[in-house]
Amino acid sequence: MSELQAEKLSYRYDGRLLVDDVSLSLSTGEMVTLIGPNGAGKSTLLRLLTGFLPASAGSCTLAGKPLTCIAAAELARQRAVMRQQHNLSFPMQAVDVVALGRAPWSSVRREEIIYEVMTLTGALPLARRDYRQLSGGEQQRVQLARVLAQLWHDDGPQGWLFLDEPTSALDLFYQQQTLRLLHQLTRKGNLMVCAVLHDLNLAALWSDRLLLMSQGKLVATGSAEEVITEPVLTRWYRADLSVITASECGRPQVQLNQ
Ligand SMILES: Nc1ncnc2c1ncn2[C@@H]1O[C@H](COP(=O)(O)OP(=O)(O)OP(=O)(O)O)[C@@H](O)[C@H]1O
Ligand SMILES: [Mg+2]
Repeated sequence: MSELQAEKLSYRYDGRLLVDDVSLSLSTGEMVTLIGPNGAGKSTLLRLLTGFLPASAGSCTLAGKPLTCIAAAELARQRAVMRQQHNLSFPMQAVDVVALGRAPWSSVRREEIIYEVMTLTGALPLARRDYRQLSGGEQQRVQLARVLAQLWHDDGPQGWLFLDEPTSALDLFYQQQTLRLLHQLTRKGNLMVCAVLHDLNLAALWSDRLLLMSQGKLVATGSAEEVITEPVLTRWYRADLSVITASECGRPQVQLNQ
């Protein structure tokens, strides 16, 4: 087991603290979900944790080494990132978008891996389509295939996978399929998944741990049972809601009140 550790991370922009003194550690083998209201700083924190933004204060280390000291090519073999938005301004087939994920690696088994991840994410029938003409949900499935391809080894994905709202455009079938897949891939112990989700019911069903952010700070962390509660959610989301317990798995589920 290996760790990504953030110590007192802050990011200041234009006099505002977008991320404020965040410390956390992420381990391979776990599925962690980052939740919180719009503008809380979730995407900004993800950028700090993945080395796309330099922190204004604090540090982030991967297996004991500061992110800033890891060469870009080496980092690309250890962590992959799916952003909240991903537009292309030129024509490209979906299969070539997925192949971009293999750029940090040699071409050994490249076609096989691309076929495998596109099958897993339901993106295979889209392989020859122009990415720009795909629906929002179809594009998300292709992007998920790309980041899985980036971390793929002989026996599955290894490393740190960061996903910013990966299910926001997916229908119910693919929401469930995607979360099940990610959860199952973490069970092998070699992959950490950290996903930003607005759907708290999905988060509650599949997360080992939830991190709740508000105004740049981590304000609640723990299991679904600890974080998905009426007092916590009412306080930080300001929504009028009820939390019930799903009978089969015992995980909490959120209902909005009319
Ligand atoms: N490049 C930027 N320049 C200036 N302000 C920014 C920038 N990116 C984000 N912000 C601001 O930082 C705050 C946090 O933004 P961030 O995108 O991290 O929020 P978020 O939690 O991901 O929100 P959402 O749920 O809407 O995606 C917001 O107030 C936003 O307006
Ligand atoms: Mg965001």
